[in-house]
Amino acid sequence: MARVNRQILLRKRPVGVPVAEDFEAAEAAVGTPGPGEVLLKNLYLSIDPAIRGWMSNARSYLPPIEIGAPIRSGTLSQIEVSNDDAWPEGQLVQALAAWESYSVVPSSSLHGRVRPIEGIPLPSMLSVLGGNGLTAYFGLLEVGRPEAGQTVLVSAAAGGVGSIVGQIARIHGCRAVGLTGSDDKCAWLVNELGYDAAINYKSADLRNALKESCPDGIDIFFDSVGGEILDVALTRLNRHGRVVLCGAISQINATERPPGPSNYLQLLAKSARMEGFTTLDFAGRYDQAREQLARWIFSGELRYRDEIVEGLEQAPLHLLRLFSGEHRGKLMVKLADPEG
Ligand SMILES: NC(=O)c1ccc[n+]([C@@H]2O[C@H](COP(=O)([O-])OP(=O)(O)OC[C@H]3O[C@@H](n4cnc5c(N)ncnc54)[C@H](OP(=O)(O)O)[C@@H]3O)[C@@H](O)[C@H]2O)c1
Repeated sequence: MARVNRQILLRKRPVGVPVAEDFEAAEAAVGTPGPGEVLLKNLYLSIDPAIRGWMSNARSYLPPIEIGAPIRSGTLSQIEVSNDDAWPEGQLVQALAAWESYSVVPSSSLHGRVRPIEGIPLPSMLSVLGGNGLTAYFGLLEVGRPEAGQTVLVSAAAGGVGSIVGQIARIHGCRAVGLTGSDDKCAWLVNELGYDAAINYKSADLRNALKESCPDGIDIFFDSVGGEILDVALTRLNRHGRVVLCGAISQINATERPPGPSNYLQLLAKSARMEGFTTLDFAGRYDQAREQLARWIFSGELRYRDEIVEGLEQAPLHLLRLFSGEHRGKLMVKLADPEG
């Protein structure tokens, strides 16, 4: 009897914040890989804001998910059948696959082998040693280029990426200031992760709070939020400051084109720069970054939090939690344990 592949499909393109009706649970036969392809058993799904972007029609660095196709997702997977000698069966991999139990993908699209590290839980290979850690590492160090003594402001600071950025800034001798949406998360940033200060952007007067928390101005703004927060932060940017454009989650569900940052002339006045990046820009250097991140974890300089939930059917609900901020650290959905 054909094995069943459980899937979550894109039923229709969301307007604004996605709703349950935009998704559809389905079952299909497990696919058979063709030449140069592999059959993956998906073990963990990475719940990322980028998925919301791929659900829309907007032109981006990847094409939109097609209507009726499974929701695209970063995964930690195990190769079950391989038609490429370079990718042996049983190998754990990071992949761009989908919200489904099994995926057939070209081996050329695999993001890399996962070599478990003793003392680090397997799903953390998808979080702090996967997309989130790599985004924080390359975004801050390569785009932001921090120097000791500088002030680094981080938005979405209690999330998967942001919770790592501030700690890397601290490791490099910077003052780290985080923006997040609750007092509890602020306390977590300062007391557990070593941020120097944290601001609850929902309750604070942001202009005054930034003056207080960044008395010497902002040298690097690592921004994952955009919108009003970006505009206000620009006013405190120092000469030769850098704005690292990591994401714009405040705009991701917008139904109208967002206004540009009205304070952009601050970049001119401060001889500053704003630079976007995607983690894929640094694909050839992932192993080097992972080694460094692992060293910081083992030395106790880098802490992280994974929130792992179970059940493919719940994946859409967990995607929505990224927009309400009801999580800390990295959100993942567990589908299965590895074999062998
Ligand atoms: N450039 C790249 O290659 C790359 C790679 C990965 C991720 N990213 C980007 O990095 C950002 C963070 O991703 P992540 O996976 O680590 O997600 P995350 O930070 O774990 O989750 C998103 C967080 O954003 C905050 N947020 C949501 N809506 C907001 C709003 N309207 N205003 C202000 N804050 C809001 C929420 O926290 P609060 O409680 O603090 O509001 C939420 O927890 C996203 O923008 C993502 O697109 C970029």
